[in-house]
Amino acid sequence: MTMVQDFSGLEAALGDVSHALGETFDALLPVPESDDGRVVEAMRYALFAGGKRLRPFLLRATADLFGVSLTSSLRAGAAIECIHSYSLVHDDLPAMDDDDLRRGKPTVHKAFDEATAILAGDALLTFAFEILSDESTHADPRVRAQLVSVAARASGHHGMVGGQMLDLAAEHKQLTERDIIRLQQMKTGALIVSAVEMGAVLGKASTHARHALVAYARAMGLAFQIADDLLDATASADEMGKATGKDAAAGKATLVSLWGEDAAREKAEILTDQALSYLKEFGSKAELLREVAQFAIHRRR
Ligand code: IPE
Ligand code: IPE
Ligand code: MG
Ligand code: MG
Ligand code: MG
Repeated sequence: MTMVQDFSGLEAALGDVSHALGETFDALLPVPESDDGRVVEAMRYALFAGGKRLRPFLLRATADLFGVSLTSSLRAGAAIECIHSYSLVHDDLPAMDDDDLRRGKPTVHKAFDEATAILAGDALLTFAFEILSDESTHADPRVRAQLVSVAARASGHHGMVGGQMLDLAAEHKQLTERDIIRLQQMKTGALIVSAVEMGAVLGKASTHARHALVAYARAMGLAFQIADDLLDATASADEMGKATGKDAAAGKATLVSLWGEDAAREKAEILTDQALSYLKEFGSKAELLREVAQFAIHRRR
């Protein structure tokens, strides 16, 4: 049975990180004064469109387990949000999902134009690595190199981009459960895992703790995408701020299309229980990570 849960505390904590992240972006990427600032305007449009900023939150909540400074967490969080935002700008392009609405606003290629959306996405991706490799993100160059490596692997053909490629090929095709799970772990799970892993890297976590946190994020990331697919099937565009009903229309292979809504919801619950089981060793310090895992599957946006 699904419990009705109160996420007001978590929403407030998400809001705090989101606010601090906005200030970080303002400092890192100021509004351009010159008339050649169009690409920066488009980057900022994507970054300030009203996303949940869940990945920076996950990074911060993980880094908090190890007492990492707020500056380090926010800078690494800004980098991961740049990569996530870029992935959405490109995901919405006519050549991909062809969406006009994102977070309740026109998508970047609609508000600007296609070429600007492509370039703004490219610039967001590369800017992430500029931020991560900067000394002010972490004094230890080995930590910075690890951050860059984790983010790069999660973003490219081993991760998000590879998953997006598989996702395009999954239209009007019967995929097995195994194939769908692999696709979703790559297209969505990889960036979510990288956010948590970067928190562990910043905190110089032990190998054991890092593995437990990665296992948490793998289960949670998969549940998060199942929730996205369920919301696509059941929520309104008004609630989501993006078009819904698109997966079925495109004949997209998802766990919802394979099993139906009830079984997909059950799977998301099982994955969440699994995710929580990996947090046991962190005790009460990991409460926010527990709540965010519940939020990931019970959210309405
Ligand atoms: C949407 O991600 C795309 C997926 C990977 C499912 P989010 O639901 O985190 O999107 P925003 O950033 O809050 O808009
Ligand atoms: C996209 O998945 C995930 C990315 C890697 C960008 P979707 O195509 O389902 O995301 P939405 O529903 O457009 O946000
Ligand atoms: Mg897509
Ligand atoms: Mg899409
Ligand atoms: Mg979707």
